[in-house]
This record gives sequence, structure tokens and C-alpha cells, in this order.
Amino acid sequence: MTETVLLIGGGGREHAIAQSLAQDCDLYACASNRNPGIDALAEGFERVDEADADAIVHYAEDVEATLAVVGPESALAAGVVDALENVGVYAFGPRKMDARIETDKAFQRRFMVENDVLGCPDFETFYDIEAACAYIDQYDGDVAVKPAGLTGGKGVKVTGDQVTKEEAKKYLRTEKYEQVVIEERFVGEEFTVQAFVANGEVRPTPAVQDHKRAYEGDEGPNTGGMGSYSDAERFLPFMDDGDYDEAVDVLESVVSALPDYRGVLYGQFMLTADGVRVVEFNARFGDPEAMNTLPVLETPFLDVLVSARDDNPLPALEFAPTATVCKYAVPEGYPTNPESGARIEVDEESVTRAGDGLLFYASVEEREDGLYTSTSRSFAIVGLGDTIAAAEAVAADALTAAGDGLRIRHDIGTAELVERRVDHMSQLRG
Ligand code: GLY
Repeated sequence: MTETVLLIGGGGREHAIAQSLAQDCDLYACASNRNPGIDALAEGFERVDEADADAIVHYAEDVEATLAVVGPESALAAGVVDALENVGVYAFGPRKMDARIETDKAFQRRFMVENDVLGCPDFETFYDIEAACAYIDQYDGDVAVKPAGLTGGKGVKVTGDQVTKEEAKKYLRTEKYEQVVIEERFVGEEFTVQAFVANGEVRPTPAVQDHKRAYEGDEGPNTGGMGSYSDAERFLPFMDDGDYDEAVDVLESVVSALPDYRGVLYGQFMLTADGVRVVEFNARFGDPEAMNTLPVLETPFLDVLVSARDDNPLPALEFAPTATVCKYAVPEGYPTNPESGARIEVDEESVTRAGDGLLFYASVEEREDGLYTSTSRSFAIVGLGDTIAAAEAVAADALTAAGDGLRIRHDIGTAELVERRVDHMSQLRG
């Protein structure tokens, strides 16, 4: 039987998901923006808000979906998985209660303590912003200040890194979040491990390193992620197999405590001098990390989805021994003051001419005369190669596809930046 899969979400992550599914099923998609890459792969594309569970259910019934895949956290937070389940459509993504591992950072930390999940920082949660400010003042060391709810990856402020303690307090007083988590700052190198999860099973994927800061050299404000790289093996040059295994153990202990969890579990880890610590969990694929992972996944993604739905063991995952480098092209001014409405040229042919280059569209507006920027990330280029350096060269070549009006962090995946990570870690580990 041919499966009919409904994909929810219209970013670069979802374009990568669509690419990995389209050949094996009848694919339909819905998102608030019409992603031209997904649109070209899908048999139908409906413009709906990703958090509008009723509209998504309606579309799923309309196309007679036999499966759904949820990309963005906004849909998980809105209970889209639960709503689809109520009408008999299995959605690969956690139900609203389990998605709190991402959507409620206070829950996330309490859950770690209650279930002895390793790698949890010292933390306190606050509804009272003045009490949070007093805690920042009296805490002996730097802190990470986190709104408890979703902020698109842009809400965290770290003292001693991006801001001073005074600036962190001013930020809290200005933003007036309902609840915040103040926690110990970790120092080290960040990495992501994502795993497919269903029926109590965990199938991890290779580690990836994202780059949150807007400008080269890790300067500037936090973004949704400017780009990322992975190596031809499961760990990254600044870590070893044991560090990777530690991260996977953490993901497995989360799933032991949340046995009904299904979908992708994303661990953002910090490799510190004292081992692996948990920066946060997400309840879905990372964006950009999905664009590193799915192109090297040799096991059909559809097999994972069908096994999950049918309560069968998840397939063992095979990955090509290939490194990847992903770089996002974003509008000028992103993320603080993005220039939307700029006409952009994307030379799709020059991406593929560059060899192992892939193009994933994200947030662009298609008009009669071409593509225009929105306020969010526009498109990503992914280079594949035997080494990170080779993949970076492919991505750099393919980036000639990005015309004016766009900004790129050219340093992502370069030998210089990767060596800096390795040196940083050697220094910390002595
Ligand atoms: N890459 C960060 C995120 O997806 O939240």
C-alpha cells in the first residue's frame, strides 16, 4: 500500500524531510508559508498556520493521510499530534504533554532531577522577575537566563558570554516573561544528537554542531541557527566516541522516563571539562541540523515512520560515511532587523553543478516575478564530502547561488573554525 504522508511545516528542516520522503510515498504538506522546494515535491500544499490543529486535521482528512510528520515545535505545543490521533492519523511527533520536554523549560529541568537524567545544571525557576534578578545577583558564577516558554531559539541570554548580569536583569525586566529558568552557565563546546524514538526505542543519529550566533567568529545575537556541520563518523572532531555515547545514554534515560514519547528527541549538549551536560532538549528535528542528518540517512525515513505507527521494532539506521556542511542564507539585518521584501536570485543549477551540493528552501515569498526575502532565514546550502573540509568546499562553491540581499556565515565548517573548536576543547580538558 502506498502511504499518504502529511508533512507539517515549511522551513529548511521540512524541505529536508520532504526530500527524504517524497520518492517513497504520496506526500502532502501544509505550512503558513509556501516553501517552493516542498511545493515542488508534494502532491498538494495547503497554507495553514502550523498551530491551527483544526485546520491541519481537516486537511489530513481531506487528503486521507495515513501518517503525518510534524516539523516545528509550535505545532507540537498546539497539540497537533493529539488532534490528529483523535481522528485516527498517526503523527510522528510527541503528544503535547511529552513535548513539554521542549515547550516548558521549567518542566524540562524538574523532569531531569526527578528522573535522575544526567547532565542537569544547578537551576531555579521563577514567576517573580525581581526574585529572578536577586538570584542572578547572589549566584556565584555566570548564569544562563531562559524564558520557560518557546522563543524560536532566540530567548536565552548567557552572562559572561553575550551579556553582563546587569544586562540580563534589564532583559528580564523589559521582556516580562511569565516564567523564567535561571541556571548555571556551562563552558565548553556545544553539539547536538538527535534520535528517532518510538515504542520505547531510541535510534540515534550522528552528532552535529550548530552555530547560533549571527556573525562570523561567533559574534552577534542568537539566531535560529546560521548553519551546522557533521563528520563522516558519528562524533565531531572536538569530541570522541565516549562523549557521543554519554549523550546517547542521556537521550535513552529521557525515553525510559517518557515511555510514550515518539518522534525525534533532540539533545543539545555541552561538552565541558567535566563531561557532557544538557543545554536543552527539543521535541523535533533541529533546524538546520535536519539538513545535515537526513541527506546521509540511507535507511528510508518512511520505514521508520511505518514501523513506529505499526508498533514494530524501528529499523537499524544506516548512514553514509559522509561529512556535511550546511550554511543558511539569511536576509540582511537578520535576526534583529531583517529586511523582508528583497528580491533574491537562487541559481538552483549552480548548486548541483558544484557537485554534492543540496539546496533547501526555508522562508521565502514567491511572487510572479521571483523570490523575495521574508523576515526569517531564506534558504540553506548543504555540501557533502568525505571530510568536513571537502564538504565545506562544496558548500562554498554552491553558495555562488546566493545573490544580493543575503548574508551568510562563511566561516561555518572551515578548517580554521573547526580547529578552534578542537583547541578550545583540548585547552579545557588539559
Ligand atoms: N538548531 C537549533 C534548533 O533547532 O532549535
